[in-house]
Amino acid sequence: MQSVVLNFHDDMMEFAEGGKPIDMFSQMLRLALDMINRTMFSNDVSQRHLEIAEHIYALNVFMKKRNFSVLPLPVWMPTKDNRSFKKALNALDEIVMEIVEKRLSSGEFGDDLLGMLLSSKDPETGERMSISQVRAEAVTIFITGHETTATAMTWAYYLLSKSPGSLKEVHASIDDVFSQLEISDMTGMLDELKFLDDILMESIRMRPPIYVTYRRASKDTEICGYKIKKGESVHLSPYIMNKDQRCWTAPETFNPSRFQNGEGSNKFAFFPFGAGPRSCIGSHFTILEARMILAILGRSFQFELVSPDEEMEPEPLVTLKPRDPVMMWVKKRV
Ligand code: HEM
Repeated sequence: MQSVVLNFHDDMMEFAEGGKPIDMFSQMLRLALDMINRTMFSNDVSQRHLEIAEHIYALNVFMKKRNFSVLPLPVWMPTKDNRSFKKALNALDEIVMEIVEKRLSSGEFGDDLLGMLLSSKDPETGERMSISQVRAEAVTIFITGHETTATAMTWAYYLLSKSPGSLKEVHASIDDVFSQLEISDMTGMLDELKFLDDILMESIRMRPPIYVTYRRASKDTEICGYKIKKGESVHLSPYIMNKDQRCWTAPETFNPSRFQNGEGSNKFAFFPFGAGPRSCIGSHFTILEARMILAILGRSFQFELVSPDEEMEPEPLVTLKPRDPVMMWVKKRV
């Protein structure tokens, strides 16, 4: 993780010195993609990041249409939408299959997540997963493991740039930690950087990357006076919950320190990573990743909106992305 962020730091230096703005979401996608690939698959697909982003955007558009459609058509029907969905999915499958095949031809499973998937055995039958099962698991991590994080980090930089007081505090705290430790001792300083988690959480509260999730009722029940029958689908929206004044003080205000005052501690009221048995398996990974990104980049740079007065509207696809490109200047901190 550390070397991925340090490489990215060098790229940002070029933007800072060249005086060119960046498209924050596109850069965060590139960074998070590199992160998940190197850590989970010991692989580098950074040259293909634009192509991958295009396929994932196509999946997002398709899934959103489908989720909100009154009568979704079966996926096997050769409609225009179904065809572009399959094209994007096949392309991502192929990219991940290349990674799996490369590993198999190396003759060793390796000691990363891909290696674990390839070598794991069913405890009862002793059988290994088929290659297509391994690919399906790997594709899940490949997609879920970078798109959500990139969305969260883009909103974090946007919201921080709109909140000069918080930004100043973050920079002062980062400087404080780095004045005692070297960047090469990143592992040693992770605990010192915990305060950065509040920035991630507050950004995720205001703009939850997964803004709605679904559950099917396993039995007849009643929630807050609403009768729900077995088999019915219930939508749970962190986006709505995170603005509820019963849970949050001044919910429209970006205030990372609210978590220090106990807000957000009810895990069934604040559930940006889901809750219960199907909750996110990557939440700890994301928190650590965000901490490193905010710390290493924050030590050297300040990101400023090219149009500081512009309000970025969220676009509710599968994830809650900024509707328009978030263009930012990379300024060296003096
Ligand atoms: C800001 C970052 C992230 C957010 C906001 C997020 C959010 C979520 C949420 C809300 C769920 C539950 C969905 C539901 O209830 O139906 C979920 C599930 C999942 N997430 Fe994440 N996630 C993030 C990062 C990651 C990362 C980095 C990984 C992989 C390394 C990951 C892998 C998964 C997987 C595999 C599931 C499905 C778990 C299951 O069904 O058992 N996520 N995530």
